[in-house]
This record gives sequence, C-alpha cells and structure tokens, in this order.
Amino acid sequence: MANVNLAIIYYSSTGTNYKLAKWAEEAAKEVGADVKVLKVPELAPQEAIKSNPAWKAHVEATKDVPTVTLNDLEWADAIIFSMPTRFGNIPSQMKQFLDTTGGLWFQGKLANKVVSAMTSAQNAHGGQEQTVLQLYTTMYHWGAIVAATGYTDPAIFAGGGNPYGTSVTVDQNGNMMENVEAAVKHQARRTVQVAEWVKKGLQS
Ligand SMILES: Cc1cc2nc3c(=O)[nH]c(=O)nc-3n(C[C@H](O)[C@H](O)[C@H](O)COP(=O)(O)O)c2cc1C
Repeated sequence: MANVNLAIIYYSSTGTNYKLAKWAEEAAKEVGADVKVLKVPELAPQEAIKSNPAWKAHVEATKDVPTVTLNDLEWADAIIFSMPTRFGNIPSQMKQFLDTTGGLWFQGKLANKVVSAMTSAQNAHGGQEQTVLQLYTTMYHWGAIVAATGYTDPAIFAGGGNPYGTSVTVDQNGNMMENVEAAVKHQARRTVQVAEWVKKGLQS
C-alpha cells in the first residue's frame, strides 16, 4: 500500500471538477494514499454566484469542504489539481492560490512534489489541453515533477485521449459528455505511484 500524502486541490463553480476530485480521492484511497480534498478560496462576488442557480447550489453543497492552506502543500507528497477552463486558461481562483505559494517556493519546499492536473470545458476544443498545460507551467517553476498520464492506460483513449491529464466536456446543463471516471482513477493511481517512487528515491 502506498505511503503517500495526496492533496487534491480543486476549483469548481458548478460541480464538475469537484466530481473529478472525488473520483480521484476514491481511487487514491483504494491504493492506500492518505488523501485530502481541498478547495481553493472563491473570489467571485456573491452577486455573481447568486445569479447562477447551479453555482449557488454547488457553493452551498460544498461549504464543508476544507479550504486549502499552505500547510497542506508542505504535507503533500503528491498533488492533483482540478479546475475548469476559463478562456483556455486556469481560473483566477486557482491562480490566486498559486500566487500565494511564493514563500514556500523560495524555501525550496515545492520542489519534487509529484503533480498532475485535470480540467473541464464546455467545448471539446475549447482549451482543455491548454488549461492543463497552463497549470503545468507553474509546476515547472516550482520544480515539481509532472506525472502526466500519457497514454498509459486504455481508459485515457476512452475518456477523450488528453495525454496531459484527464479532461472532460460538459454541456450547458453540467452533464459530462465523455465517460472519464476510469481515466481520472487511473490518473490518481499513477500520481500516487510516481510519488511513491520519488519518495523512496529521496529517502535512499
Ligand atoms: C468566464 C468563463 C470562461 C469560460 N471559458 C471557456 C472556454 O474558453 N472554453 C470552453 O470550452 N468553456 C469555457 N467555459 C465553460 C467552463 O469551462 C465550464 O462551465 C466548466 O468546465 C464547468 O466546470 P465546473 O462545473 O467545475 O465549474 C468558461 C466559463 C466561464 C464562466
């Protein structure tokens, strides 16, 4: 069983990325990882949230999910990020959180974290791959080790074939258009596995 601390850090307005995070949690726990699912702080004004029933309902449903802290980053051997596409980029909420990590980065405490990322978008070609890659740019600056999925499992082809990290298309009602559960679970197990290898290597 894996001796790995995994933080699953997500942002979600209408629940898709929370669902991806929960699938990842399930799979990582099955292989013995110690897992925390954590949301990044919301930045949008209450009026914006209240004007969208799905957003309002999701915020209410996840009010008890803990908010990520810098201590969680120190604790984690591995991190899976999940966030929706915003104009082909990561949401400002996730970026704002990443921009609070300068102190840890300066102390070298983010180097060698094993990371991967997942996303969703309304369109298959609406920036899914690019959003994952934008997140990874920050990871390269951290000195993190990106554990992309590549095509390491048939579930990745079945889930739409994004080799950078699982991504899913959602329609206007929030329904997922591809079945990505198996791909998410494979990605979670792989991230934990790579973190275990790295951890062992660092201890030897
Ligand atoms: C400001 C904004 C920008 C968006 N930009 C894109 C985009 O560039 N491409 C796309 O396909 N979907 C875009 N979307 C749709 C979201 O990606 C989609 O609602 C999201 O993946 C749902 O995830 P969630 O349920 O976790 O919030 C955008 C949505 C918003 C609110």
